[in-house]
Amino acid sequence: MDGRSDGLVLFGATGDLAHKKIFPALYRMVERGHLDEPVIGIAYDPWPLEKLVERARDGIANAFGSVDERVFAKLASLLTYVSGDYRDKATFDRLKAAIGKRRHWLFYLAVPPSMFETVVTGLQQTGLATDGRLMVEKPFGRDLQSAQALNAILHGAFAEKAIFRIDHYLGKEAVQNLLYFRFANSFLEPMWNRNHVESVEITMAEDFGVEGRGKFYDEVGCLRDVIQNHLLNALLLLAMEPPAGRTADDLIDEKVQVLKAVRTLRRQDVVRGQFKGYLDEPGVRENSPAETFAAVRFHVDTWRWEGVPFYIRAGKNLPVHATEIVVRLKRPPLDVFDTLRPDDANYLRFRISPQVAVALGARRKAAGDAMVGEPVELLAVDDDTGDMTPYERLIGDAMNGNAQLFTRQDASEIAWRIVEPVLDDPAPPPLYEPGTWGPAEAMKGFGPPHGWHDISAPAAKAGGT
Ligand code: BG6
Repeated sequence: MDGRSDGLVLFGATGDLAHKKIFPALYRMVERGHLDEPVIGIAYDPWPLEKLVERARDGIANAFGSVDERVFAKLASLLTYVSGDYRDKATFDRLKAAIGKRRHWLFYLAVPPSMFETVVTGLQQTGLATDGRLMVEKPFGRDLQSAQALNAILHGAFAEKAIFRIDHYLGKEAVQNLLYFRFANSFLEPMWNRNHVESVEITMAEDFGVEGRGKFYDEVGCLRDVIQNHLLNALLLLAMEPPAGRTADDLIDEKVQVLKAVRTLRRQDVVRGQFKGYLDEPGVRENSPAETFAAVRFHVDTWRWEGVPFYIRAGKNLPVHATEIVVRLKRPPLDVFDTLRPDDANYLRFRISPQVAVALGARRKAAGDAMVGEPVELLAVDDDTGDMTPYERLIGDAMNGNAQLFTRQDASEIAWRIVEPVLDDPAPPPLYEPGTWGPAEAMKGFGPPHGWHDISAPAAKAGGT
């Protein structure tokens, strides 16, 4: 189908994701006049509608600090609730009755992956899938085989064009800016290749642990949780060629081209770690080998990037909460003033969160008699990125059938091919102290040739060091 969906059906309406992210996003959409269609929540809990409405209000108040009653009343007026077991056909019959005559619905699966097949089968058997769209939350499988099996299930009921696999990172303003910045500026292109770039590093650091999500996290670990999806997607935006056109497929085709060129990982490309105390978290297996930290070296075998290492590191309980990308350029060919240290090189820095900034790291002469330099950053800090949350943007896009920011089947499967050999290492990962950058011993010598950029300072001042 083309055009806008007639309404939204939210599976998992009483769950955590709906509470924390989806209801706040729907509220914002209503506030902006971007949502006027019915929303049907569906879940197992036998709640009266009022309870779901209160739960939604609570999530919105938590997310924004306050609730505008006029906006909330409008959202509440769009909301209905169907409860029942997804394995029971009667649940889907009730859903069908609630849906009425309109046929083009967006079905959002905010449920554990183990329920995907049951829900999709229910939608298919009641004929609801025929003209609908499907939005699925990660994880899309846990390896290549399960991703293929999952895609086969989804395709049994929905055409690929009607499937929207959400990676909320792609809905972030600062991540979209990576694409925009690269292809809306001409000064980058001459240096954006192996001749000038020494290395690329992407860090996603979180200074908190698994926050009550021990059971979920223990089944996935860091590589599956954020590297195979969010951070690999960031790498693609940095490494891809300009798209040939503006359709969703034009963009995704270019990303898939890069994915095909990303070398399959070997064990020596990865350092894993686990923070001390993880095993005491509720829901974590005894002696669990799950990694809560991973640093990975990727190679992109294209003419543009041959020989340039792309490093990604991510983890829980690290020293800061920040996501940042640093593209480090090669040193000048000659040290004319004889003042450069081995690691003095220009770089481009994209701060993704919590602040948003783009900075060019350079050197200038320090004031004084001698021709001695100091580092400076030419910096554009942009904290005013609007308040559109990734979920708001992505739900709106899926309602409109715009697939540009979603993961296509081929991309989801190739991403698994790349990481698969390093998943589920049975060896216990080396431990690290909470608040440090992973297992120090194992990290020795692993990383960009001149060390990892210090990302603790969000926006170094021009003239600072
Ligand atoms: C989620 C992961 O996909 O992304 C979490 O499951 C992680 O473990 C989160 O904390 C980070 O997203 P954001 O938008 O809060 O940086």
